[in-house]
Amino acid sequence: MEMPSLTIGSRTARLPIVQGGMAVRISMAPLAAAVAEAGGVGLIAGSGLAADELTREVRAAKAATSGVVGVNIMVAVRKFKDLVHAAIEGGADIIVAGAGFSRDVFGWCREAGVECVPIVGSERVAKLSERFGASAVIVEGHEAGGHLGTDEYMLDLLPRIVESVTIPVIGAGGVVTGAGIKRTLDAGASGVQMGTRFAATVESSASDEFKSMYVNATDEDIVLIKSPVGLPGRAIRNPLTQRLVGGDYPVIDRCISCLKDCGKEYCIIDKLVRAQQGDVTGGLVFAGSAAARIHDIPSVRELMERLVAEWEVATSGGTQ
Ligand SMILES: Cc1cc2nc3c(=O)[nH]c(=O)nc-3n(C[C@H](O)[C@H](O)[C@H](O)COP(=O)(O)O)c2cc1C
Repeated sequence: MEMPSLTIGSRTARLPIVQGGMAVRISMAPLAAAVAEAGGVGLIAGSGLAADELTREVRAAKAATSGVVGVNIMVAVRKFKDLVHAAIEGGADIIVAGAGFSRDVFGWCREAGVECVPIVGSERVAKLSERFGASAVIVEGHEAGGHLGTDEYMLDLLPRIVESVTIPVIGAGGVVTGAGIKRTLDAGASGVQMGTRFAATVESSASDEFKSMYVNATDEDIVLIKSPVGLPGRAIRNPLTQRLVGGDYPVIDRCISCLKDCGKEYCIIDKLVRAQQGDVTGGLVFAGSAAARIHDIPSVRELMERLVAEWEVATSGGTQ
């Protein structure tokens, strides 16, 4: 049996594997292009980038592969509209809108012939998205890395969303193996979005120090912090998260009001940039709950082949 393909509107990926967008500058052109080239959907993270940088990244990824390349942008970012248009200008196939809901993005995508895929946390928002013209929705569970929009586990939430819409539903959160992909597809998903597993690959633009934090993490090291975005976030414990949990917020050096609605307790963009660049004591290392199950840093090709092989074993009755 072959792994099923994933169709999102007019775009089809050979494999039902979506590499989640990861800001700031974790999932850039090299990662997205490698995933798309290996048969999945590669997503560049637009949040925290300048519009022209995003356009360049999308062009670079599209030049490197004929596969499906999209862009993930957080609705909470003040420059959301500019970034969506920058992604479209670069030739993105798909716009994924996370951390908030935007009505406008459906119209911008429709006009440009680009598929619009919101991240949803309830049946109500999934139905609304379908009505506005979404080509698919992503359901992110509480296990996910980064900002969290729900307390529910993905496999609890997913079947209810699948029941409530007719468009493809993509499950996200806690999946790092082919067996996990099988469980998600068995629950009714048309595809699986994985972030954490792809952050620790050769092509990820995270620093080596960031990737080592994943490889060395145990379950006790995965913590929840409060983000100034107004949502909890999941990260790997370090001196910064210890400070945040105690309410001891680092002073903001420079604020450009990059988020529409920021509590300004500290600057999350600065902390994410620091971690990506290698400061894993003062930066914020976002990671999903399954980070402790990651023990290596494979190339995207090796990882995709492994995921397919694991899925085949699980599908033929084996376990991992
Ligand atoms: C380092 C990191 C950064 C992330 N950044 C974003 C982001 O910018 N926008 C977004 O919608 N989701 C973001 N996410 C969530 C992922 O896109 C994906 O949905 C999630 O990681 C899935 O859960 P998993 O990590 O357990 O696979 C991020 C996740 C990680 C681990």
